[in-house]
Amino acid sequence: MPYKSCIIGTGSSVPERVLSNQDLEEIVDTSDEWITRRTGIRDRRISSIHRNETSTDLGTRAAVKAMEMAGVTADSLDMIVVGTVTPDNQFPSAACMVQKEINAVNAGAFDISAGCTGFLYALAMADNAIRAGHCRRVLVAGIERLSSIVDWQDRSTCVLLADGAGAVVVDAREDSNGILSTHLKSDGNLGELLYSTYSTSTIPEILKDIDTKPFTLRMEGNRLFKRAVSYMAAISRDALEKNNLTAEDIRLVVPHQANIRIIDALAHTLGIPLEKVFTNVHKYGNTSSASIPIALDEANHAGLLKTGDNVLLVSFGAGLTWGAALLKWSM
Ligand code: ACO
Repeated sequence: MPYKSCIIGTGSSVPERVLSNQDLEEIVDTSDEWITRRTGIRDRRISSIHRNETSTDLGTRAAVKAMEMAGVTADSLDMIVVGTVTPDNQFPSAACMVQKEINAVNAGAFDISAGCTGFLYALAMADNAIRAGHCRRVLVAGIERLSSIVDWQDRSTCVLLADGAGAVVVDAREDSNGILSTHLKSDGNLGELLYSTYSTSTIPEILKDIDTKPFTLRMEGNRLFKRAVSYMAAISRDALEKNNLTAEDIRLVVPHQANIRIIDALAHTLGIPLEKVFTNVHKYGNTSSASIPIALDEANHAGLLKTGDNVLLVSFGAGLTWGAALLKWSM
């Protein structure tokens, strides 16, 4: 039997501070009612320079938890791949910085920049490396501190974005479960819908302890919204078709947590009941490439995933990029 890429451990870590919609009412002209109704978000986590909550810190904690659950040691990892647009430094990569912290002395490590689809791009690279026989064990993570690139004067984006990290350990196993297929797409012509620009945000008084980078995020939310639903639905159908499965065969969808209305519209378009769609956007907001591995870890801890369950992961983000992974749960 050929080797399959099997997820054998999940982990996540979010900053301690909870920033609520009511807190945001003090920062920009918005309301709890508007944010909840338009996005489903109530709280989000925002890191502080006074705690150990850098991208490396959050990523390391998520990685350690995933390895503990998998029962593996860091020296057994052949590769570390991190999806991120907010590493602590331009270089070394977030993957190399996490590698140093966990002492993964035998691994190659690199980052992938694919916006909110970063985790699925990273997972696809891990799957390809395992299928090709280059690696036996890979740590895949999504790590973000979007608070460091948010324009805190822009109410249309600062209410959405947040910080966190999630990770999985992927192992080569002779198993019928594991990753069935991954699907990646992008369209650089649509880069103007979501991009970073060199400018620094004015930081509100109650967030003086956040770390800031010399660029800020710009987004055309409305135009992005429509494409998010149609592109994620199309790539989900590609994944189902490739594996001769239908929407009824899916046990759980773990979508990118950007906006509850996008998630609801995706489920409706695919004909998948909302009970089969995992959401935690109300607690964490949009953590970009960290959102799927955090959600997967929570779904796993909640006992929502059983061995052999068909699980669909699907995301979209800056690039534009979008992607899906279909897997048979392997834990
Ligand atoms: N509070 C109150 N009013 C607001 C706020 C706010 N926080 N933000 C915008 N508004 C106002 C606008 O100014 C506008 O007012 P106007 O009609 O007087 O001009 C009105 O609300 C409607 O604005 P829209 O942009 O049309 O609102 P929409 O329903 O589209 O919701 C949102 C905006 C939530 C951004 C939505 O478009 C969305 O979620 N888009 C997708 C964004 C996303 O998921 N990005 C993910 C990728 S992130 C990454 O890759 C890092």
